[in-house]
Amino acid sequence: MTQQNLIWHPATITKKDRQKLNGHKSCALWLTGYSGSGKSTVANELDRQLHAMELQSYVLDGDNVRQGLNRDLGFSQNDRIENIRRVGEVAKLFVDSGVIVMTAFISPYQKDRNQVRELFDADEFFEIYIDCPLEVCETRDPKGLYQKARNGEICDFTGIDSPYEPPSSPDLTIDTVNFSVNEAAKEIVAFLKTENIF
Ligand code: PPS
Repeated sequence: MTQQNLIWHPATITKKDRQKLNGHKSCALWLTGYSGSGKSTVANELDRQLHAMELQSYVLDGDNVRQGLNRDLGFSQNDRIENIRRVGEVAKLFVDSGVIVMTAFISPYQKDRNQVRELFDADEFFEIYIDCPLEVCETRDPKGLYQKARNGEICDFTGIDSPYEPPSSPDLTIDTVNFSVNEAAKEIVAFLKTENIF
């Protein structure tokens, strides 16, 4: 691995220039939670609401990124660490391009989420806990994966035989048991306003 002989090439158009053109700040909203907690659903509804407000936004989703950029990665601890590291770097590029980026990854380890946070300025990264107990996620089982994991057809499944560490101090917690997807997304929009993103 050689990072020597590399010199950072500064961009002519800066992040600030892009934010000014867009009329709002950019940031990364890092959604974390169990499979089936509602990360992708909330991220996509939020994307819809932000788009309707004419804001620049984009969703990076675990299931999708794992079919392209991260198709070489599985679900071992090391592969999950690398998955999150790469997505953190991609999210940083999106923020640099002036976009509000939502990431929907289980991202089970607090250490990895902390390392991603370190890539960003304090006011442009927010860890959002999509809070839904494992029992409820397992009851929802939208993809039938919990059933497969219980049957031993999938191994290293988060919550069954692979760990999940809930955020120790999330910037925001979204309860997807007692609140609808629409309400959850609205709560994040309100949060973004209090953070002066737009
Ligand atoms: S991680 O832990 O952040 O690297 O996982 P992520 O990239 O978010 O991918 C999670 C989605 O992959 C599917 N899937 C599994 N999840 C957890 N454990 C195992 N073993 C597994 N195998 C496949 C599953 O559909 C996850 O999607 P979500 O949207 O979270 O339900």
